[in-house]
Amino acid sequence: MTKDSSNQMWGGRFSAGPDAIMEAINASIGFDQRMAAQDIRGSRAHAAMLARTGILTDKDAEAIREGLLTVLSEIEGGTFQFSAALEDIHMNVEARLTEIVGPAAGRLHTARSRNDQVALDFRLWVRDQLDALDAALVKLMQACLAQARAGADWVMPGFTHLQVAQPVTWGHHMMSYVEMLGRDRSRLADARKRMNESPLGAAALAGTSFPIDRDMTAEALGFDRPAANSLDAVSDRDFALEFLSAASICAMHLSRLAEELVIWSSAQFRFVTLSDRFSTGSSIMPQKKNPDAAELIRAKIGRILGNTVSLFTVMKGLPLTYSKDMQEDKEPVFEAADNLMLAIAAMEGMMSDLTANREVLEAAAASGFSTATDLADWLVRELDLPFREAHHVTGTLVGLAEKTGRDLPDLTLEEMTGVHGGIHEGVYGVLGVQNSVASRTSYGGTAPVRVREQIALWEALLA
Ligand code: ARG
Repeated sequence: MTKDSSNQMWGGRFSAGPDAIMEAINASIGFDQRMAAQDIRGSRAHAAMLARTGILTDKDAEAIREGLLTVLSEIEGGTFQFSAALEDIHMNVEARLTEIVGPAAGRLHTARSRNDQVALDFRLWVRDQLDALDAALVKLMQACLAQARAGADWVMPGFTHLQVAQPVTWGHHMMSYVEMLGRDRSRLADARKRMNESPLGAAALAGTSFPIDRDMTAEALGFDRPAANSLDAVSDRDFALEFLSAASICAMHLSRLAEELVIWSSAQFRFVTLSDRFSTGSSIMPQKKNPDAAELIRAKIGRILGNTVSLFTVMKGLPLTYSKDMQEDKEPVFEAADNLMLAIAAMEGMMSDLTANREVLEAAAASGFSTATDLADWLVRELDLPFREAHHVTGTLVGLAEKTGRDLPDLTLEEMTGVHGGIHEGVYGVLGVQNSVASRTSYGGTAPVRVREQIALWEALLA
């Protein structure tokens, strides 16, 4: 190969171009072109700063800034020719800029390196993604809130060990997901606050001898401040790891709700009916309506957590500062972000369309001796029994009902007094599920009055 075939961006000391396999393993343009808008945003801010500080003439900076807009419109319009020989988005953009504005384009890279450039672009991309995710989560929370509002006082069984435990309200159950998603949002907000420092101006790793103004670029790009240590600035990928960690927790939450929808929509439960828009049929069994969207959401955590582990493993043990290993940081983040966005959107669609079957929920709430705890509490309150003894008496009554195939309210007063002489008519008042949920008025409890307070609170928060 001749010297001409060496890379035009860094080929000065090379006499031959790369082997085809080298180009294949080295090039990131296949995926990092997703950061084109961020790259151009960063370069425009950098050029403006170079002009303001007198490092570039206004004329050159203006030509560069205009030319970058042309490149952006070509990329957005789909006419841009990406080249693997130019490795990555940074060099693809700069090469095209050179074609458009001529040699002045070569001055853009003054006081900058691809190391601070890629750290900047990726940070901007993740920050944009955090904002998009936050907006998507708000919509999903609103869908859950709407479900909670519609059925704030509908009773359903509450479960532990997936065994009927105590009656709860549908609204309460829906609001528990609002709490989870609210924590997901606050995790994203925390991550955003911590990552919002500009690496631009760290240059290759040591800073630069040019009189740059890092505050100016930081401010122009919406950062709170420039990152304080140039070595750390080019080698830090905590922001990506925090994003992935928060994304994994969120995906885990979605998988739990998805699992409940799968169980609840089965013929055995019939707690909810999923809309046709988010279900599929079977090619052989005509009666089937499958909760595919819920199942796929349930599965997404596998890929998202996998991507998280993947980037942790890439970063582990890397010496300071930049190493090419770090080019492997983008695909896991892109894949996790895409899958999480899709999962949230699908969940929002399912929750908006979902019909909760009130009568089925209510009937199920009364089964499984779900008010046994209410009976035990009544024995403590009314007859002053120690809780352990009340527990034993109740257990005996449950056993009696179970043996004869009945529920607790079906036992006669004679049968009850046979187990404990002090029991009187008043006991039937606490055996109903409505009374049971209405009585749980402790803060955070399932009583409709408490649930409606929480709904109002969250509606105000999200408004
Ligand atoms: N494509 C590279 C990446 O994604 C850009 C930074 C390259 N820097 C370097 N010194 N080779 O990490």
